[in-house]
Amino acid sequence: MARIVTVAFGREIAPFLALGAFAVFIPFSNAADTQSIDRRITPGLRVSFESLEGSEPRAQDVAALPNLCLYVPAGSPATSFIPSGRFTASWRGFVSVDLRSDYRFQAELNGEFKMEVNGVVVLEATGTGAASSPSRFIRLNKGTNLVTATFRSPPRGDAFVRVEWMPKGGLSTPIPLSALSHQPDEELERTARLRLGRALFIEHRCGKCHSAGVQTGNQPELELDAPSFQDIGARRNSRWMAQWILDPKGQRASAHMPKLFHGPNALKDAEAAATFLVSLKSASTPAPAIEASAGQIDAGKQLFDALHCAACHNDPDGAEASAERISLKHVAQKFRPGHLALFLKNPAAHYAWSRMPNFKLDDEEARHLAVFLAARADQATEKIGTIDTAAIERGKKLVQTTGCLNCHSLKLENQFAAKPLADLPAPRWSQGCLASVLAENSKAPFFAFESTEREALQGFAAGDRAALMRFVPAEFAARQISGLKCQECHGKIDGFPPVEILGGKLKPEWITDFLAGKVSYKPRPWLSARMPAFAAQAEALGHGMAMLHGYAPKTSPEPPIDAEAAKIGQKLVSADGGFSCVACHAVGKVGANLVFDSAGINLAYAAERLQRPYFVRWLFNPLSIEPSSKMPVYFDETGRSPLTDVFEGDGAKQIDAIWQYLRLGDKMPPPPGTEPAP
Ligand code: HEC
Ligand code: HEC
Ligand code: HEC
Ligand code: HEC
Ligand code: HEC
Repeated sequence: MARIVTVAFGREIAPFLALGAFAVFIPFSNAADTQSIDRRITPGLRVSFESLEGSEPRAQDVAALPNLCLYVPAGSPATSFIPSGRFTASWRGFVSVDLRSDYRFQAELNGEFKMEVNGVVVLEATGTGAASSPSRFIRLNKGTNLVTATFRSPPRGDAFVRVEWMPKGGLSTPIPLSALSHQPDEELERTARLRLGRALFIEHRCGKCHSAGVQTGNQPELELDAPSFQDIGARRNSRWMAQWILDPKGQRASAHMPKLFHGPNALKDAEAAATFLVSLKSASTPAPAIEASAGQIDAGKQLFDALHCAACHNDPDGAEASAERISLKHVAQKFRPGHLALFLKNPAAHYAWSRMPNFKLDDEEARHLAVFLAARADQATEKIGTIDTAAIERGKKLVQTTGCLNCHSLKLENQFAAKPLADLPAPRWSQGCLASVLAENSKAPFFAFESTEREALQGFAAGDRAALMRFVPAEFAARQISGLKCQECHGKIDGFPPVEILGGKLKPEWITDFLAGKVSYKPRPWLSARMPAFAAQAEALGHGMAMLHGYAPKTSPEPPIDAEAAKIGQKLVSADGGFSCVACHAVGKVGANLVFDSAGINLAYAAERLQRPYFVRWLFNPLSIEPSSKMPVYFDETGRSPLTDVFEGDGAKQIDAIWQYLRLGDKMPPPPGTEPAP
């Protein structure tokens, strides 16, 4: 029996990612989930892709996507498992409604699109960028309705489609993610395994030793680095490094670094390598030691809570430690004095692709957190011994000859090489690095893969390896959202939106800047939580989030600001014959004039942040997007405004006027009847 997905009126929010739907699309961080893709209905729709390029049989792929949207730039691949060029995409799944009711459908697209509901054609459109005309009303049954659709990419230009629906007497909105579902099948499981294999290859940096050949400039996934060895002796302790090198996964379950030393000499070799690494320090890098006081520890603890560090780490004061989260018990053993605070201030300083985000801490915050973590950590174990020059030399040789420098950077000759990827035929993918037990004298690193991971890598080896070179931002975004644990904050902290709608809400340029930590203001200054920066991932992630919603990675330019309309908009946001938006929203330098618990974001930022269609939808009916919003609904279901003296009460024109005013950004004159803060 199919599950009936609850659909609040037009609600866009879905527990889509949370339910692990991307375990089908990109199953990266939840390897365990893929072992048991459950046979029930899961969120999103099943989409099969077929390339229209090359000779028969043509490349095919299947994935689960969250909605009836896609965006594929001309000359790019639609998925990493089909070649660039023209393609078809066919959706299949269910659309669910709480009550039997009538809907129309509409698509904005470049390409050809046809959609059927319960076997009846409802929409057929060929578009070159604009919206199709809306379909006739069709009845959706209470519960699930079968939906199928096909899209054929256009001969020219970027391929895209975005489907919206419109209830009778209501406004057009994207179909809520929570209303869409599909039934997983074996084909989806098979392609999910291929994707897992591809992801494991990338994340474990196999290509650093087994070169995949020409590296195109636009495959950011192959640029993953490792912590730099330059000056590492100033930052890290020798003992801890030796333990890590001996067995990285033993130190941290989510480590990607393999074990490189095996056999009876492993410990001695790891210690020698660490001794060499700790000798790498220039004289000029001492960091001030920090004195701990009870006040600082408390302040650090409060920050740890307020910034939601426990989203990804075990709380040092928490009752239970989870293997899912990264422990910080070892920090006093790992970091040289003063260097924990320096790390917290800029985790990417020596490791660009670190998954630890940057919270833009000031010096004092970093110090407080460092003091708190060190106070709760296991005791430091470093002993300052005599410098063993023989061990340094031996360690140096090992570092040069074991493959360390394939991943880690250091100005030192690398004397290690392994076979290129092209020379690893699929039948050999149970040997070397993929052996379940390493052969006695093997030179291969040991990754401690689980059998499902090994199978996924073997599947990938036997399949289309060119997938490695195909970069699909939407897939990247889906994988990073799960791998970087965005949803451990989004959807768990009250008062800001779930991450899965953001690609359809915000401009990709703004998302990219925001993720990169380049936005100088905090949109919601009243939150004690803070969005941390993920700089290395920002651009591809921002683009991919937009593309998951059928939007271009670059917002198309709007016509110049309509100054007349902007004047009217200025009045409309005021309390002086307008909607009193200023009661809750600051507008530029003018603060919100009613201070209570329903503060909104400064409207001066609206136009640079929001996609225009989202802004319009939000103003027409905020409750259709966020049912618990405190923002008033100003317009009736047909879009009429209570302010009948402006544009004769035409809601769409009034909303456009407000938009034109907001587009002035920080140059906007204050609304009438307000005073800018001094
Ligand atoms: C540090 C460098 C390094 C990394 C990283 C690395 N390998 Fe290897 N790999 C080797 C070496 C060296 C061998 C050869 C072992 C030997 O000859 O005993 C090898 C052997 C293999 C073999 C067996 C080849 C054969 O013909 O016997 C496969 C398959 C393989 N690696 C796959 C992978 C995969 C998949 C990854 C990523 C998960 C990976 N390797 C990461 C160095 C590396
Ligand atoms: C979104 C997940 C996430 C959040 C939130 C997060 N971290 Fe991390 N943190 C990581 C990851 C992942 C690592 C491991 C480093 C890596 O993989 O590059 C890490 C590493 C660290 C380390 C270094 C551990 C080591 O062995 O090198 C410290 C210290 C740390 N985090 C402290 C914090 C503090 C304090 C906060 C809150 C201000 C915080 N983290 C918030 C994901 C997170
Ligand atoms: C396949 C790539 C790869 C190889 C080969 C490799 N490492 Fe690493 N190493 C990493 C990555 C990635 C990290 C970051 C932690 C993680 O995610 O595993 C790391 C972390 C480290 C760290 C901790 C640095 C810090 O500040 O947190 C040390 C020390 C280290 N590696 C030493 C070595 C040595 C010594 C060798 C050779 C014996 C080596 N690594 C080989 C990828 C590699
Ligand atoms: C440590 C908690 C935390 C993590 C982890 C986190 N976020 Fe956020 N995020 C926030 C907070 C808090 C805000 C609201 C910030 C504000 O408005 O001042 C936010 C806001 C955002 C916004 C702007 C939303 C809007 O409507 O203004 C985007 C986009 C975003 N996050 C994306 C992501 C992505 C993508 C990830 C994962 C790569 C992620 N976040 C991980 C805490 C987090
Ligand atoms: C009673 C208080 C209140 C009034 C009056 C009000 N809003 Fe809001 N508004 C809110 C709240 C609360 C939010 C949600 C803030 C959030 O996302 O955290 C919001 C959100 C918004 C957003 C989306 C912001 C975003 O980036 O997520 C826009 C745009 C907006 N309001 C515009 C307006 C305009 C224009 C008016 C007047 C026509 C107005 N609001 C009147 C309370 C109000």
